[in-house]
Amino acid sequence: MSSVVRSVVCREFAPLDRLVIEQKPAPELFPGCVRVDVSACGVNFVDALFVQGKYQIKPPVPFVPGMEIVGRVTEVAPDVEGIALGQRVFANVGLGGFASQAMVAAKRCMTLPDTLSDGQAATFMQSYLTAWFALVERARVEAGRWLLVLGAGSGVGLAAVDVGRALGLRVIAVASTEEKRRFASERGAEATIDSTLPADQIKELAKSLSGGAVDYLYDPVGGEVGETCLRALGDDGQYLVIGFVAGIPKLPANQVLLRRITGVDWGGWAGKNPDRNNALLAEVMKLIARGELRPVEPLTYPLERAADALRDLEDRKVAGKIALIP
Ligand SMILES: NC(=O)c1ccc[n+]([C@@H]2O[C@H](COP(=O)([O-])OP(=O)(O)OC[C@H]3O[C@@H](n4cnc5c(N)ncnc54)[C@H](OP(=O)(O)O)[C@@H]3O)[C@@H](O)[C@H]2O)c1
Repeated sequence: MSSVVRSVVCREFAPLDRLVIEQKPAPELFPGCVRVDVSACGVNFVDALFVQGKYQIKPPVPFVPGMEIVGRVTEVAPDVEGIALGQRVFANVGLGGFASQAMVAAKRCMTLPDTLSDGQAATFMQSYLTAWFALVERARVEAGRWLLVLGAGSGVGLAAVDVGRALGLRVIAVASTEEKRRFASERGAEATIDSTLPADQIKELAKSLSGGAVDYLYDPVGGEVGETCLRALGDDGQYLVIGFVAGIPKLPANQVLLRRITGVDWGGWAGKNPDRNNALLAEVMKLIARGELRPVEPLTYPLERAADALRDLEDRKVAGKIALIP
């Protein structure tokens, strides 16, 4: 175990290049906790929003971003049972993951299927649980129906393609590059559409590919394309509002009248329903272990390049996911 912790620190809400790397002595381990040598930490779009003060939740500064970690246990508090030194664990830490080591409440640590690499394990949780929560808990989707996924070549969108196909949906994936569309096809999208086309053309293609109209729209993108693709839904079609990377769409009241519009706030729900979220995580992990869900092997960046990783997400350069490797 190293006695020094290297972390990416957000000292103030500011542009990404103001993130700093700091080294500090490792703090003493709290009761009920384990120390984890972080081998990979997932990077999510929301981390970029957090550090720039653009998210609805603003953690007190300074803070270390990074929600999902994988690593080996190097120290166990005397009151902790059932976790061994050297064990590989995964934890949803909320904050503090962009670091060489983390102190984690033992009850948050989970063991992982051996089939998942460290990178996959550090990057599946937020994306897959959001997709599962949206399609299963919120929409209660019916197999055989059409799902249109925006932002389908990375993050929560790619996970929705995988989960949607596993649930028996017929998936149309919208993404900007051949690589992103290939990732979506490999996870079972029946058809893909280039997201760089005009929004109206994307909508028309989605309608014709689905034989008239889609049943569900899963939208982490928003903006003009979200607002336009809403009109690809048939009567009683369901619009799943996931995120707004391209801006908050304006929904005309006639569309609200005609469609079912469903907000999805997985993070907020998970915080209030930890037991139900654990059950959801267990279900997703079971399907991953069986090979029925296939999280992508992420691109890897060293910890020092955390700002580049976040910028590349914002610039739509990332097919799949990114993990930081301390
Ligand atoms: N509701 C929830 O519970 C929940 C949970 C997790 C995340 N989210 C939200 O979901 C959104 C996506 O997160 P993520 O981690 O999946 O992000 P991500 O991996 O960066 O994926 C976002 C995708 O959106 C597409 N996009 C289209 N227009 C864009 C633009 N103007 N700027 C950036 N990307 C654009 C890109 O696809 P193309 O380039 O291929 O078009 C990109 O691959 C974020 O807003 C996040 O806060 C919501």
